[in-house]
Amino acid sequence: MTAKTRVKVALFGLGRLGVIRARILAFHQPRIELVAVCDTKPGTGEWAAANLPDTVQYFSDPQECLRKSGADAVHICTATATHAPLILQAFDLDLHVVCEKPISVDVATTAEVIEKAASKPHLKFLVPFTRRYDKSYRTAKAMIDEGELGTIHAIETTCLDQQDPNAFFVTFSALSGGIFVDVGIHTIDVGRYLLDVKSGLKNPKKQVNRVVAMGHNAVYGDLAKYGDCDNGWGLVEFANGKILTTYLGRTLTNGFEDTTRICGTKGHTIVTGTSNVEIRDQHGIRTRSVPDAFTFFDPTFFSDLAEFADAVLDNKPFTCNPEDAFKAIRICAALQHSFRTGLPVYFDDEGNPILEPSKANGH
Ligand SMILES: NC(=O)c1ccc[n+]([C@@H]2O[C@H](COP(=O)([O-])OP(=O)(O)OC[C@H]3O[C@@H](n4cnc5c(N)ncnc54)[C@H](O)[C@@H]3O)[C@@H](O)[C@H]2O)c1
Repeated sequence: MTAKTRVKVALFGLGRLGVIRARILAFHQPRIELVAVCDTKPGTGEWAAANLPDTVQYFSDPQECLRKSGADAVHICTATATHAPLILQAFDLDLHVVCEKPISVDVATTAEVIEKAASKPHLKFLVPFTRRYDKSYRTAKAMIDEGELGTIHAIETTCLDQQDPNAFFVTFSALSGGIFVDVGIHTIDVGRYLLDVKSGLKNPKKQVNRVVAMGHNAVYGDLAKYGDCDNGWGLVEFANGKILTTYLGRTLTNGFEDTTRICGTKGHTIVTGTSNVEIRDQHGIRTRSVPDAFTFFDPTFFSDLAEFADAVLDNKPFTCNPEDAFKAIRICAALQHSFRTGLPVYFDDEGNPILEPSKANGH
């Protein structure tokens, strides 16, 4: 029997990210064959017919796609609330899974998915966190691993989106889990990736002591309806004393920014998403901004899928494991809760956040 040379993938979701993923899967992954796409939204079939090879089948019914596409694996790029049910069904059908972050906006559902994945060790499950596949972050990580920066004791990380005149993320907020979950999952994950949060623990299950979050609505007041904010600050104290701060925003006017300061005992390094091209003209000295996260992180969408194919075909390891997604969502849910209640959130000995109800403190 000859070994398989390509993984057959069915892609679910042809929205903002899905159309980027579809093109990469169809045209830029030598070890992947895109066999089907599925989206429940009218008009997506026409997009698929116009932009993808004739060999790619289109389904408007996810159940039909899961059962009839002939795929070995699914790539889930749908609205967040649909991730967990689709992942569970894919595992039941013995399919490998790539799923965009987050698995779910709540911790209990994420735990259920992680448990199911653990019960299917022959299936690969990747939740690719963009920054782990980014060249600059990988360079910084290699510097840390080689000891160039000494002991890393703190990370300060920001993710700031450009203002959107259509306020897309206001309606999106109803289902996104809020800024600390939707955006914070990236910065919290990269903080966990760069900080050694596992060493020096008395109880290996408990990586976090406490978190606190604050925020406000500087531009998009309607976010308050959803217990959400357009600028949020979070502080995480890990059980081994390391500190992570994160600043998340939706109100920049120049473009998208992603910046991380890594604080080591021998030096600091700053990873920044600003373009290196410097402009000197009558306005002064400045660099050009990137419009959004998709532009900045586009190359990462190639390398995470290549890694997925290598894992399925050659049993190679992933850069991030489902457990990372689980640990990140516990922190993000705690931050969102802290913002909503005005209270710090402590973690128990099992590593779970203790989500106390709000007190009469004006929140
Ligand atoms: N890794 C990253 O940096 C990154 C960036 C952006 C978005 N995301 C995640 O990707 C996911 C998609 O984001 P988006 O901005 O493309 O959203 P979107 O709303 O633009 O697109 C989602 C698409 O999924 C379709 N859909 C919904 N339920 C479906 C189902 N059951 N079966 C098939 N199709 C279904 C919708 O019709 C829509 O076309 C979200 O979970 C988001 O959090 C990750």
